[in-house]
Amino acid sequence: GQHLLSVSQLDRAALTSLFGLAESLRPVGQGTQVCRILEGAMLGSLFFEPSTRTRLSFESAFQRLGGAVVSTTGFTFSSMAKGESIHDTARVVSGYSDALVVRHPDTGSVAEFADASVVPVINAGDGSGEHPSQSLLDLFTMRQELEARGKSIDGATIAVLGDLRYGRTVHSLLHILGLYSKVTFRVFGPPALALPAEFFEVVSASGNRIVECDSVGEAIGPADVIYCTRVQKERLSEQDEESVHLKGDLLNMAILTQYGRPDAIIMHPLPRDSRHNSFDLSPDVDDFPGLAIFRQTDNGLLIRMAIFSIALGVADHVTDDLRPAAW
Ligand code: CP
Repeated sequence: GQHLLSVSQLDRAALTSLFGLAESLRPVGQGTQVCRILEGAMLGSLFFEPSTRTRLSFESAFQRLGGAVVSTTGFTFSSMAKGESIHDTARVVSGYSDALVVRHPDTGSVAEFADASVVPVINAGDGSGEHPSQSLLDLFTMRQELEARGKSIDGATIAVLGDLRYGRTVHSLLHILGLYSKVTFRVFGPPALALPAEFFEVVSASGNRIVECDSVGEAIGPADVIYCTRVQKERLSEQDEESVHLKGDLLNMAILTQYGRPDAIIMHPLPRDSRHNSFDLSPDVDDFPGLAIFRQTDNGLLIRMAIFSIALGVADHVTDDLRPAAW
């Protein structure tokens, strides 16, 4: 088995096989077929930060493939509350499991878990570092949505909006799209949450293009895909909070119809902050046909089943094991 810690581990061939596998697992995600390639396997699920979709879709994915799950959430309920180290925690829980999925607030900490683990470790988000399974489901969805419109990721224009400073899904996405060619990014974030300089270099080094925009309207104008993000309030310093005064919506139906393409694809890693003045994607776009946010979450289950199949070395058995559900 192998760890999945960063999108930098992946190449185009790895993406092709992972996406093919995710596609063959679609009927399992939809419950019309079963596949029990992980029967007898145990997942250790360790989430030290809040999560709805990442934790539940990883756990659901493992069980959909016939495996079982042991889990702990937050710092209060594990013995980290008694001062136990990452090293000892990883060594202990990996002894009970065949794979670990870990989310932790410190950048680089999931790699520390991997160093001490005796089984493959999947990074489910390490602070403002990476969230590779999210990038994979984003890419898988982007490809599906663009292909449905006769387009492809190569040559696409992608607007990236919101918290470009702390949004780890943004960072991983800019990075992984370096595997594709002629992608143009049009980025807009409030000045205090602007994209760190290193990511302009990441994009340029990969041969893609990045354009810094002064408004949402300017960013979304020619965009095939509009990728929105939530302000990562839990990562703002006191100084950030003083300089970030955000009001209204990041994107709503009025802005979208005034500036965006009618066939635009709207994505968001979610959660979106539904509180007033949260500067996020407004629910008034929910009837827009290009809104792909729940197709992203549904695809997350397929991508995570595919990740486990590869990490545990059973990907070749998927097709043989597919059979109609009994219900
Ligand atoms: N997109 C995402 O990581 O969501 P959760 O924090 O709910 O897992």
